[in-house]
Amino acid sequence: MGRNIVEKILDKHLVEGELVAGTTAGIRIDRTLTQDSTGTMAYLQLEAMGIDKVKTKRSVAYIDHNMLQQGFENADDHKYIQTVANKFGIYFSKPGNGICHQVNLERFSVPGDTLLGSDSHTPTAGGVGMLAIGAGGLDVALAMAGEPYYIKVPKVIKVNLRGKLNPMVTSKDIILEVLKRQTVKGGVGKVYEYGGPGLANLSVPQRATITNMGAELGATTSIFPSDDKTREYFIAEDRLEDWVELVADPDASYDEVIDIDLDQLVPMVAAPHSPDNIKSCKEVGRIKVDQVAIGSCTNSSYEDLMKVSRILKGRKVADHVSLVIAPGSRQVMEMIARNGALADIISSGARILENSCGPCIGMGQSPGTDAISIRTFNRNFYGRSGTNSAQVYLASPELAAVSAIYGCLMDPRDADFDIDFSDIHVDHFLIDDSMIISPDQDPRNVEVVRGPNIKPFPLNTKLTDRLEGRIIIKTEDNITTDHIMPSNAKLLPYRSNIPHLANFCFSTIDEDFAKRAKENKGGFIVGGDNYGQGSSREHAALAPLYLGIKGVIAKSFARIHKANLINSGIIPMEFENLDDYDKIDQMDVLTIDNIYQGLKDGRLEVKDEEKNISFFVKANFNNKEIDMLMAGGKLNSIKMRNSK
Ligand code: F3S
Repeated sequence: MGRNIVEKILDKHLVEGELVAGTTAGIRIDRTLTQDSTGTMAYLQLEAMGIDKVKTKRSVAYIDHNMLQQGFENADDHKYIQTVANKFGIYFSKPGNGICHQVNLERFSVPGDTLLGSDSHTPTAGGVGMLAIGAGGLDVALAMAGEPYYIKVPKVIKVNLRGKLNPMVTSKDIILEVLKRQTVKGGVGKVYEYGGPGLANLSVPQRATITNMGAELGATTSIFPSDDKTREYFIAEDRLEDWVELVADPDASYDEVIDIDLDQLVPMVAAPHSPDNIKSCKEVGRIKVDQVAIGSCTNSSYEDLMKVSRILKGRKVADHVSLVIAPGSRQVMEMIARNGALADIISSGARILENSCGPCIGMGQSPGTDAISIRTFNRNFYGRSGTNSAQVYLASPELAAVSAIYGCLMDPRDADFDIDFSDIHVDHFLIDDSMIISPDQDPRNVEVVRGPNIKPFPLNTKLTDRLEGRIIIKTEDNITTDHIMPSNAKLLPYRSNIPHLANFCFSTIDEDFAKRAKENKGGFIVGGDNYGQGSSREHAALAPLYLGIKGVIAKSFARIHKANLINSGIIPMEFENLDDYDKIDQMDVLTIDNIYQGLKDGRLEVKDEEKNISFFVKANFNNKEIDMLMAGGKLNSIKMRNSK
C-alpha cells in the first residue's frame, strides 16, 4: 500500500518502536532551532550533558523574542547564547536577522528532514515538506546531543484543497477555515497533511502561514508536499541543492479526509479571545479599530509585505489608527527597502518595528484600554496582547491593511479601490547570510561568556537507598505550575538563573517556602489532586530541585509535570489510600527506606517519624524512568552514559 508524506518521513527516521498510531516511537532529529526565550535553558541543559559538539546535521540559535527588556540580563543572555552556540557547533542568527521561523524557512529548511524547535510554531517549516515539531527545551537539548525524540505516533489527516482562492481571500483564511471546523483542541495527536489540486496556486510563504497556525489546532504538526512550487522557492533562495521532491503516493491512505473548496472561502477573522472563534468579516461588521499590527511568524514574508505596501501606496492610515509593521526577517526588510515598497509603507503613516516577534510576545505595542486591535498573528488569547480589556481579531495582512486605511474592520473586497497583486513574484531573494554566524571549528578556542544572570543548570545527586526530610509544604488540590513557579514580567528575565527564580517558588501561596526549604536542606512536598496542572513549564520542577526537594507525594499528578519531576530526579508518589493525606502535616519528618527495591515493586513505604505512623505510596515507573530517578535525573543519566 502507498504511503503518505508523514509515513515516509517517520519511516526514514524511526529508531525505536513501531509506526502504529497512538503508540510511542523514537525518531531521529536532523535539525534543531531555539529562540532566546527558551534557548538559554536548552543550552544550559546541553552543557550539563557533557558532550563536545551537537550531533545534528544543523542546529541554529535565533534571537528574536526578548529584544526590549530593560537591564543587563537580556544582553547577557544573548551573549551567552552566541558564545555557547559557537562552542557547540551551532549556527547563531543575530538579533535583527529575523524571526526564527521566517529565517529558518528562508535559509535552513529542508524537505524530508526532521526539525525539533523549542518554540510551538516550529511547524512553520512544514510549508516546504519538513516534519517540524515544537517541543520543550530539554527535548531540543537531547536532540542536539543525538538522542531520539519520542512522539506519540500521530493520526494523519488529509486536508484536500480544491479550486482557487478568490482575490483578497488568502492562505490565512484557509487555516482559519480549518480552525473553524476542527477547533483548538481538534488536532491533538494528529498531523495535518495538505494536498489536492488547490496546492498548485499556493506559494511556499502562503503554505507556511497555514502550517504555522496549524499549531493552534493543538496538532503535532502540519505539512505540505515538496513539489514544483517548493522547487521554485529553493531556486529563489539560491538553495536548489537542498530541495528534494516529496509527495504522497497516489494510493496513500489517511485516518480522515477534510475537503476545502477554496472558491467558497471568504475573508475571515478569529474574533476575541480564541483562534477558533471564526467569523466572516460580514458577520462582525464594520467595527471601529484602534490598532492594526502586521507581522509575526505567521504573516511577515516578502509576499505579505509587498501586498501590504500595494494597499498602502498613495493612501493614509486613518487618523485614529496606529498601524505597526514588523517584517519577518532582514531579507524581507532589505528587499522592500531596496525596491521602494518600504517608502510607500512609511509614507502611509505606518510605524516600522524591528525584524522580530515584537508585539506578538508582548514586547511593546500593547493596545489601549478597551481597544480593538486587528493583528496578523496566530494567537489572541485573553490578555496576550498585554491589555486585558483589549479585543484582538486575527486576520490576513490584506484585511489588516485595508482596515487600517478605513479605520474599521473591513472586508478587503469592499474597498473602493482595486489592486492587482499578480506581478508580485520573486525569482531571486536577496541573499546575505552575514548575520548568521558559523560556529568555530575548534571548540577549544571558544570561551562561553556568562554574565551574572547565567547560572549553571541545577543537577540532582544520585538517589540513595534511604530518603529522610521534612514536609516543606502541604498544598491543596489543583496546584498549577504557575503556583509552583510563577512567571511574570519581573521574573521573565531570570529564566537562565534558577538560583534567583527558586526564591519565588510557591511565593504566591507561601512566601516562606524557599526559606524553609533552604533551612531544612530540602525535603518533601505533599500535594492534593491534580498536582502540577497547567503549562509544561520545566522551571516548576527545576526550582524545587534546586531547593533540595527529593520527592512529591500527591493524591494525583498532572501528566507533564510528573514527567518533568522524573526528568529532574524528583520522585512523584501517589497516596495508595487517599485518607493518609489528612494524617500528615507540614514540617513532619518522613523517611523512606529500600528505595531501589520499592521502585521496582511500584510501591514505597513512607514513615512519619513525628506521628509514628506509616503508609504506602504508589511509585509505578518503567525501567527507563527508574534508571533516570536513581541517576538523579535525565541529564545525569545521559552524562553518565556519555562518560563511559
Ligand atoms: Fe515570535 Fe509570536 Fe511567532 S512570539 S515565534 S512571532 S508566535
